[in-house]
Amino acid sequence: MEKAVLSYNGKQYELPVFNGTENEKAVDITNLRKDSGLITLDVGYQNTGSCQSAITFIDGEKGILRYRGIPIEVLAEKSTFVETAYLLIYGHLPNLSERRLFSQRLTENSMIHEDMLRFFDGFPPTGHPMAVLSTMVNALSVYYPGYFTDNFESDTFDLMAVRLISKIRTIAAYSYKHSIGEPFVYPRHDLMYCANFLNMMFNSPVKPYNVEIDMDRALNTLLILHADHEQNCSTSTVRLVGSSMANLYSSICAGICALWGPLHGGANQRVIEMLETIREDGFTIKQCISMAKDKESRFKLFGFGHRIYKNFDPRATILKKMCHEFVAKYNIHEPLIDIAMDLENAALADQFFIDKKLYPNVDFYSGLLYRMLGIPTNMFTVMFAIGRLPGWIAQWKEMHDSRPLKIGRPRQLYIGDNIRDFVPIEQR
Ligand code: SDX
Repeated sequence: MEKAVLSYNGKQYELPVFNGTENEKAVDITNLRKDSGLITLDVGYQNTGSCQSAITFIDGEKGILRYRGIPIEVLAEKSTFVETAYLLIYGHLPNLSERRLFSQRLTENSMIHEDMLRFFDGFPPTGHPMAVLSTMVNALSVYYPGYFTDNFESDTFDLMAVRLISKIRTIAAYSYKHSIGEPFVYPRHDLMYCANFLNMMFNSPVKPYNVEIDMDRALNTLLILHADHEQNCSTSTVRLVGSSMANLYSSICAGICALWGPLHGGANQRVIEMLETIREDGFTIKQCISMAKDKESRFKLFGFGHRIYKNFDPRATILKKMCHEFVAKYNIHEPLIDIAMDLENAALADQFFIDKKLYPNVDFYSGLLYRMLGIPTNMFTVMFAIGRLPGWIAQWKEMHDSRPLKIGRPRQLYIGDNIRDFVPIEQR
């Protein structure tokens, strides 16, 4: 075991150093406060590891992303979202019988309780679908209770996992139908995961919709690319909430709420709104780059920058290529793509962005693809949540599997008032 030594106040403190399987190093500060009275301070957890995990590996310098050791590029090309979900949760790609059973359980659990449809009557059609999704996902715990007692029952977990992965599609599609005043289209047992979602979204009694193979494949790839990303904001939220022994539905509900933020998963919606503003207001690319560099300006270059990726986001590379392929194959005239490309080229050539290592992230191109699939802009983050759900579930399971479960409770550095007297209101 390697050691790090901290010298403080004339004393030396040895701290164990752990090695990751990709030779990452972590200094263990578990006993730091007990031995030295010190805590560490790392606002935003930029350099702090919250756990040891075997699910996803990211090398931000080299643009590497692997799920359970398999490169994202290979999964995006050769796998399906359902297989990838199984890989993340159970640690290996399913064999034929495992995949058949998993698919069958997803099919069997695709409906939501009929009473839950009445929830939608209470939502205004203009309500943001992320608010609807978080509410309905948490409500699943009312209709499908499966709380853990002290011991982690794997059968209960397996059923809650397939219920969530299957029903999130149904909830998302129903929220869209409610927003446009059309009747709900129920899930079908003869359609696979992504095709079923697209059918629930776009089929209607008066206008039949046939799922095109390219659309189904594109959605599988989009969801695979979003399926996990180690300890990002929303995944850390799921772990923290789950660490209190809150049930899986409520932990996922918290993750959905964290993902909604425009600095995180909400960025994909903001990217399209930003591109539309540029087109409508006639900003030049030069003006946009200048505003993006001006902290005083309200303009933010959404879809750019990342806490981990400091060269390129491998997901953005795949999505950018998919955008081009779609535009060429379907002869799509999408002016926003041209603006996005010009913006990317200008930023990548600008010293400010080079110095700060700001590159397009997963959200920069994903919205353009969702748009080509016909998904409304305010549902882009819902699509991110559908993709990220297996990752959240896998991380939550890994935390529960690593007994004893430790409730997450960070420390702080207090900088407030020292002790002072209570002053009666007459004397304030
Ligand atoms: C996701 O963590 C994950 O893995 C997330 C995610 C996942 O799969 O779960 O990858 C998904 O959330 C992708 C990110 C989507 N968000 C956006 O596109 C919003 C725009 N990006 C920024 O808000 C920012 O880049 C973050 C939030 C993504 C990263 O924030 P950090 O790591 O805290 O970096 P920072 O904000 O401290 O920025 C470092 C510097 C700052 O300048 P200085 O204070 O050093 O002078 O870079 C600047 C920032 O001002 N900067 C930008 C910028 N992003 C960072 N300047 C202009 N435009 C930007 N987009």
